[in-house]
Amino acid sequence: MITIAGRIPEAFIEEVRQKTNIVDVVSQYVQLKKQGKNLFGLCPFHEEKTPSFSVTENKQIFNCFSCHRGGNVFKFIMEIEDVSFPEAVLKVAKFSDIALPQDLATQEETGEQSQAQQLRQLYQDVQVLYTHILLKTEIGEPALNYLQKRQLDEAAINEFGIGFAPDQNNLLLNFLKTRHVSRELMVRSGLFAQRQDGQLIDRFRNRVMFPIWDQSGRVIAFSGRLLVKSENEPKYLNSPETEIFQKRDVLYHFSQAKRNIHQTKTAYLFEGFMDVISAYRAGITNGIASMGTSLTTDQLYLLSRAAQRLIICYDGDEPGQNAIADALKLVKDRSFEVGVVMLPDGKDPDEYVKAYGAQALQDQLENHVMTPIAFALQRLAHQYNFSVDSERLAYVQNALQTLVTVESTVEQDLYLHQVADQANVDLTALKAEFINANRQYQRKQRAEKRQTRLTTQQTTTAPSPVFNVVLNRTEISERRLLNLAIADETLCQQLLNHDGFAFNNPQIQALFESWQEFLQTDSQHDVAGFADFLTPEQQPLLMEIEMLTLPDEISDDEVNDYLHNIQTARINQRLQNAQRQVKRATEQGDDAAEMKWLNELLQLKRQLSQ
Ligand code: UTP
Ligand code: MN
Repeated sequence: MITIAGRIPEAFIEEVRQKTNIVDVVSQYVQLKKQGKNLFGLCPFHEEKTPSFSVTENKQIFNCFSCHRGGNVFKFIMEIEDVSFPEAVLKVAKFSDIALPQDLATQEETGEQSQAQQLRQLYQDVQVLYTHILLKTEIGEPALNYLQKRQLDEAAINEFGIGFAPDQNNLLLNFLKTRHVSRELMVRSGLFAQRQDGQLIDRFRNRVMFPIWDQSGRVIAFSGRLLVKSENEPKYLNSPETEIFQKRDVLYHFSQAKRNIHQTKTAYLFEGFMDVISAYRAGITNGIASMGTSLTTDQLYLLSRAAQRLIICYDGDEPGQNAIADALKLVKDRSFEVGVVMLPDGKDPDEYVKAYGAQALQDQLENHVMTPIAFALQRLAHQYNFSVDSERLAYVQNALQTLVTVESTVEQDLYLHQVADQANVDLTALKAEFINANRQYQRKQRAEKRQTRLTTQQTTTAPSPVFNVVLNRTEISERRLLNLAIADETLCQQLLNHDGFAFNNPQIQALFESWQEFLQTDSQHDVAGFADFLTPEQQPLLMEIEMLTLPDEISDDEVNDYLHNIQTARINQRLQNAQRQVKRATEQGDDAAEMKWLNELLQLKRQLSQ
């Protein structure tokens, strides 16, 4: 912290903090909903289904009750973007359109880079190179023709940063050598393969290059598509995983789509990069794709921070349909509204645009969204031959098992009609069957609930030692008292004047002392500023304390209660120590010590009963 303060002027840090509203910054990453004094949302730092992350606007701080991360706007950016404090200050300054002081602006250009930054810079440069080769050179022409055949114009190429890696072993190698990139960095980048003799050769050859971005829109990897079909090589080749690229938490095009996902609350999930691009050309700019693997919980969680509705549109073929079913299973129980689009003729979005035009794709994506149940029923129907009675009945039985999980009775009714029509069975009879199946299902559900209630009761009713309860009350009193003292200078002064007052918890006492020191500085004495004054380890506790909701008016009774609890706890601690000492002195036959500790013991007992 101190060395940083030396580099970025304190006054500038404060200016940035003052001119920024943490709510605006956090909202870029988290959907916040107002609840009482605070705003709540799903914590961006760990996976969760119910919100334990909150932002307090008047204090300009955030806190997660569950993972205990907390701090001011800079801390938030440090955590979520994985950057250092000075980098976070610069980022927030940029966000709030605050001009950097002159010397800082030049420092930023010459500043040394972390390993991850070096890698990102490298990827950025390589992306520019590949795009240049595609658009501006002769060796790029075959690739450009290919893309034009796929109806990608220059605007789309630029938007998606597409490039071309020619069929040469050393093109990238030589380019980076002239730029004096170290061999070590080249190896680390994953952009090269190593031959037996240790020689590096370009990993991507004769491939159309699609850059992959992280959440902040920085290039972190490539996926290269073969220009010419080959039996021995995969159609798409991805960069290997590096310190900046982990497949499981990357969603293709997410950083660019984020804005629109926020606005529409909706995200379209596709199977391939080309599908995202085709959808984009059809006016659907909130499309994303996973990295050629099935959807992961990390990706879903990234999405859940921006979207409320997830519409899955995978390939219409059999593997595509299975992948949808898997994705639906994963999304189940999450706070998403989910929809499925199945394009006619088993086409993927890219093929669909090619066959029927952009307008047709847009129409499908917007107006032909099925519910997961409708999808499940349709998929089920495909497995049976309806001209055979026994198969028709088997379908009906299976369909009923799906329908009992539907919560809305209106929806149930709708699908019952559909099933009756499709399987050509009598609606009244079907409904009677449904009521039976539903009753069985409800009974099973209730039994399961009872079972989980029993098991959780067993784990939570274990008796807690009395000692803990005492400590907890003290801890609560200390936290509340510090909260009040930070808000109220008079109270703070009172505590300082109070003879022998100290918090029992050393961390709380340290915060209390730091607050006094902070009051001596010139900065504005607010909590968000105080956070920067502390070590990163100290911040979470402060945030938890600041998040307590306490009445605006402080009553003397309340303060006295806290003081009483804190002091009693202290005396109790000393009492226990005295008891131990007495016992030890007796065992050792040390009469003088025994007397001394007995005296202390008596005095403490007297204090307690006062
Ligand atoms: P597809 O083969 O469905 O992609 O694979 P696509 O968009 O239709 O490809 P085009 O139209 O032939 O260019 C879907 C996704 O699976 C991954 C890629 O991420 C691709 O976007 N994939 C596919 C691979 O990683 N490796 C492969 O060899 C093939
Ligand atoms: Mn395709």
